[in-house]
Amino acid sequence: SATALTDSFGRRISYLRLSVTDRCDLRCRYCMAETMTFLPRAQVLSIEELGEVADAFIARGVRKIRLTGGEPLVRGGIDTLAATIGRHVASGALDELTLTTNATHLAAHAGALAAAGVRRINVSLDTLDADRFRHITRTGDIAKVHEGIAAATAQGIRIKINMVALKGLNEDEIEAMARWCGAEGHDLTLIETMPLGVVEEDRTDRYLPLDGVRQALAGRFTLIPLAHRSGGPARYVQVEELGLRLGFITPMTANFCDGCNRLRVSAKGEIAMCLGHDETVDLRTALRTGGRAALDAVIDEALTLKPLRHHFTIQRGEAPTVRRHMSVTGG
Ligand code: GTP
Ligand code: 5AD
Ligand code: SF4
Repeated sequence: SATALTDSFGRRISYLRLSVTDRCDLRCRYCMAETMTFLPRAQVLSIEELGEVADAFIARGVRKIRLTGGEPLVRGGIDTLAATIGRHVASGALDELTLTTNATHLAAHAGALAAAGVRRINVSLDTLDADRFRHITRTGDIAKVHEGIAAATAQGIRIKINMVALKGLNEDEIEAMARWCGAEGHDLTLIETMPLGVVEEDRTDRYLPLDGVRQALAGRFTLIPLAHRSGGPARYVQVEELGLRLGFITPMTANFCDGCNRLRVSAKGEIAMCLGHDETVDLRTALRTGGRAALDAVIDEALTLKPLRHHFTIQRGEAPTVRRHMSVTGG
């Protein structure tokens, strides 16, 4: 039935996170293992199929689509996909088309993305220090990120920086990042690390609860809680002295699942009902062998199966709560 999307807990689904590839040019220590096995090409949805998935969800009332990866800008045809989905922004059927990117390839795509109707981009950047950036990402060149951000800004695209708060890696840099974002006019969101997929480091050593970070910032600056919501899980404050809008994403210390409004589609066409559960349903088969009715039936199945909340725990020696890596669903 092609009706609006409501799950079994009465939550309206208006936000689709669409992963266009599981690949990434970086290997962030908390996100990926050093050696990852990526999907063979035939298993990955084509650009045309990704457009069909977007159409099906928009027809069911989705108002916001975020393209994710892996790294979405390493996917061939990404500009075409953005233009295709962007037509729904132009027609008013979609409120927002956006993406989450590491920005290393953003300079080459900023013009096409702006032309497609992208007005806001979330950039994953955990440090401003070039050596640290190389350490955390294992392969990255921070100069490329700055080039990407500058190119997007020149196109009139607003930037939000996503910084995963990591004990012993960047916790001493949170204030510097806040100052820089305030000065540059970017929003900043701090994120608690989540237990998805086995990585070389023990997440226990890296996990930094954000309640303490917020308290420390409140001791140094005036934090004014904002009603602003971006449609995602962040809770925002205005940092008066820095002219900064600062968000906190706290899956570990303050669960936000009551307000969950999203579904995810992985690059191989699985619907992931929740970031915190391994369960998925197969959309690709319906896409390749059925019509829109078959797609709608799978979407309905996903709604029925969507769980109430995640049950993330980070404990020494314990396997991650979720087996798949963040890169499979793009966070
Ligand atoms: P905005 O539209 O700017 O609010 O973006 P967003 O926070 O929805 O998306 P983004 O891709 O920037 O994600 C930032 C962080 O939030 C990532 O670490 C995501 O994994 C995490 N995140 C996004 N959605 C969810 C969710 O439904 N559950 C959990 N636990 N984390 C999420
Ligand atoms: N926990 C929290 N955030 C993560 N990200 C990647 N892996 C994790 C993790 N284990 C972040 C990236 C990016 C966003 C999509 O998810 O840094 O900002
Ligand atoms: Fe929604 Fe699951 Fe994220 Fe909670 S963890 S907000 S239920 S997707």
